[in-house]
Amino acid sequence: MVLLDGYTLARLKEEALRHEIQTLQQTLQFCPKLVVILVGTDNASVLYVNMKAKACARVGIDCVLQTLSAQTSQKELLNLLDAHNRNPSVHGILVQLPLPKHIDTRRVIEAIAPHKDVDGFHPLNVGRVYSNSLYTGFLPATAMGVMQLLEHYNIEVKGKDVAIVGASNIIGKPLASLMLNAGATISLCHILTKDISLYTKKADIVCVGVGQPKLLKADMVKEGAVVVDIGINKVEGKIVGDADFEGLKDKVDFITPVPRGVGPMTIACLLQNTLHAAKGCA
Ligand code: GUN
Repeated sequence: MVLLDGYTLARLKEEALRHEIQTLQQTLQFCPKLVVILVGTDNASVLYVNMKAKACARVGIDCVLQTLSAQTSQKELLNLLDAHNRNPSVHGILVQLPLPKHIDTRRVIEAIAPHKDVDGFHPLNVGRVYSNSLYTGFLPATAMGVMQLLEHYNIEVKGKDVAIVGASNIIGKPLASLMLNAGATISLCHILTKDISLYTKKADIVCVGVGQPKLLKADMVKEGAVVVDIGINKVEGKIVGDADFEGLKDKVDFITPVPRGVGPMTIACLLQNTLHAAKGCA
């Protein structure tokens, strides 16, 4: 079994980005700027936005973290986004999800200028991924990170059977689009799927991202499969994924660890998207 080491690959990516940003600063005298907006104090979200801000600092991206009260109105948030959209010194805008219940998430995502939408969640960017017209726009960072990790380990996707467990807008759906664009045959399983193992058992590559520890067990995959664990859960103070790593590790050919698998790749891809925005490529 080979571990798909996202941590090391992410550090390599960051190093390349840091160099590129340094050159950009020296030649054009400007610094990529990302605004990260957090509404409320959800523990996991606070952790994630802090990790994003630290990663920006490592590569030389100016990250402005705006923490708003959980009582912030939708109108206030939309006004703030409007100001950032108009500000030419802001290259990327990210609103951390989930938002408090009184705010309409779709309205907020649609209010981010598509060329600053470094999450790739705006319908225009979603459509570009869906229709495989990516000459411009952004790929959602987690799906992009998974594809780059597989590519780095020379794991071919073309012609393969891929099962994705979890059909969220953030992970499962964009990942299914990228896999399809790369020539895989996709089974996209979700909460109403009658028997997930029917799909995972025949898959060459199984990706799981639903937030349920030990959902994917050894008897649900075939011998020699590739397992990509996108889950992040806290169990008894430890971070674990959605796959039963101990049970799977002797049966599969490749598996991502959690932590240090997909998570660091997501952050590195967000940095890549921010640089892409700053260069005016989106
Ligand atoms: N919440 C969980 N993952 C993400 C992400 O990738 N982007 C944003 N904005 N919020 C999230």
